[in-house]
Amino acid sequence: MPPKCKSCSSRDGGKLRKRFFSTFLKFLLCVTLLVLAFTSPSQGGGDDVSAEDDEESANELRRTTNEVEPEFAEPIPNITIPVGRDIQLPCIVDNLGSYRAAWIKVETKAILTIHHHIITRNYRISLSHSDNRNFVLHIRNVQKSDRGGYMCQINTAPMKSQIGYVDVLVPPDIIMNESSTDITAREGTNVSLVCKAKGYPSPNISWRREDNQPIPLGTWHGKKVLATSFDGAQLNISRVSRLHMGAYLCIASNGVPPSVSRRILLHVNFPPVMWIPNQLVGAPLDKDVTLDCHTEAYPASINYWAKDGGDMIINDAKYETSIKEKNYKVHMRLAIKNLEPQDFGTYKCFAENSLGSTEGSIRLYESPPPTSEPTKDTAAIRRQSVKEVEVFPRHQSLGSVKNSDKETEDSEDDPNKNPVTDGKYRASEEAAAAHEDHSQTSNRKRNRSGSEKASEKSASASYKFKDFILVLIPALAVLLTITT
Ligand SMILES: *[C@@H]1O[C@H](CO)[C@@H](O)[C@H](O)[C@H]1NC(C)=O
Ligand SMILES: *[C@@H]1O[C@H](CO)[C@@H](O)[C@H](O)[C@H]1NC(C)=O
Ligand SMILES: *[C@@H]1O[C@H](CO)[C@@H](O)[C@H](O)[C@H]1NC(C)=O
Ligand SMILES: *[C@@H]1O[C@H](CO)[C@@H](O)[C@H](O)[C@H]1NC(C)=O
Ligand SMILES: *[C@@H]1O[C@H](CO)[C@@H](O)[C@H](O)[C@H]1NC(C)=O
Ligand SMILES: *[C@@H]1O[C@H](CO)[C@@H](O)[C@H](O)[C@H]1NC(C)=O
Repeated sequence: MPPKCKSCSSRDGGKLRKRFFSTFLKFLLCVTLLVLAFTSPSQGGGDDVSAEDDEESANELRRTTNEVEPEFAEPIPNITIPVGRDIQLPCIVDNLGSYRAAWIKVETKAILTIHHHIITRNYRISLSHSDNRNFVLHIRNVQKSDRGGYMCQINTAPMKSQIGYVDVLVPPDIIMNESSTDITAREGTNVSLVCKAKGYPSPNISWRREDNQPIPLGTWHGKKVLATSFDGAQLNISRVSRLHMGAYLCIASNGVPPSVSRRILLHVNFPPVMWIPNQLVGAPLDKDVTLDCHTEAYPASINYWAKDGGDMIINDAKYETSIKEKNYKVHMRLAIKNLEPQDFGTYKCFAENSLGSTEGSIRLYESPPPTSEPTKDTAAIRRQSVKEVEVFPRHQSLGSVKNSDKETEDSEDDPNKNPVTDGKYRASEEAAAAHEDHSQTSNRKRNRSGSEKASEKSASASYKFKDFILVLIPALAVLLTITT
């Protein structure tokens, strides 16, 4: 550039002053022409044909003068993408000239594109190009088979190439035929719940109960293990108890949404057991009385009442039987109306399922008529039985587990207690974070100080609110008095 300008500006070097302006103008013209000459080819790049022609001729020039070799302008990016999405792999080459750029799948060595032509028959692959510089490989709806290296190659000698790697992520999917279906086990046996999942990266599996109750996992290195969440494909429960009964969820996740879960019902079979809060019930003549009987059984038992070895009691004017069921627990009640002398005696409640049967008896005796308030007695009985119903489930059901474990006393009855966490058992907070919608999990397992803190917090919040109100009301009063 400089020599040309010098030649044009030094045309007339004699009379400087007179020709200064014309020289300067010429100089300007010269410069603008040069600028135009250099910029026009790249501006016309949008038009394919003219660009090609220009580059072609420019390249011939370069080749003859052995000037410029094609160069990659930037590396091909590595792409990690979930299956089903579209991707673009750019290959940018400077000074391609009459050389050709091609896309090649590294693993199969299949030629995908050469220059502007698509060679592969994969209809999901296309190419966009511009400026004889950008060669962008498009892959629509990427599949697992698209994983691997994509090489952009230029046919120089020796050839030049660059590789970009595509990784295709696959959300988790549970392999149904290798995962547990609903399980029915006899109480006391060992149970394994299995969940297998595929996906990429390989999914992690965690377990929890649908109701977010902790899962007693038996003993682990001599310690009682209780966890709301368990990590691993196989959930082993040794000596399953009725407490384990319920719906379990195995959740497979690998960081690629959506996570998937499978619901597995665990049924624990056991013969009926019975518990009677009051085996001796006194009531006066002419009054009504209610007898209570609690049973547990799975599968559900047949429950009925009988009197003095007689037939099954059916509902009529005298008797009214009712049953309240909750899971495997049944609360049987027998109301006897308008007591007559022949109503006193022994009543029996029966529970029977395929694994066995049991019975309990209640003796109803005549008590002296109440002096002041006749209703008090029955009310008291009722209150008592209700109270004991509340206590009942834990004591009774845990009793069956207690025989088998040494360290039950401290750990069983306190749901607030921190579970023993071994390497394999995930902290509850983490589990809760993974499944935000089940916030109950973390609440349940937070330790005492945690829950105390929570209550303190709410207390302090209410104090603050009180303070606020205390300030607000006088302020409003003052405001009112001022305005009126
Ligand atoms: C892509 O990954 C390969 C190896 O996996 C690496 O050598 C290369 O530098 C990566 N390219 C980019 C652009 O990060
Ligand atoms: C599960 O099913 C798939 C096909 O659906 C089959 O290839 C595989 O062998 C099966 N696995 C088992 C354990 O049955
Ligand atoms: C569960 O039991 C199986 C054998 O029944 C065993 O291979 C597996 O390691 C156990 N898993 C755990 C977490 O204890
Ligand atoms: C059940 O598991 C316990 C401990 O995990 C083991 O001691 C016992 O032998 C197992 N019982 C059966 C029947 O496999
Ligand atoms: C699976 O769990 C392990 C250990 O808990 C963790 O390091 C890894 O990142 C998890 N993988 C996925 C895909 O979530
Ligand atoms: C209870 O939780 C708090 C945090 O919430 C923690 O600082 C403390 O160490 C925990 N205490 C016990 C006994 O685990």
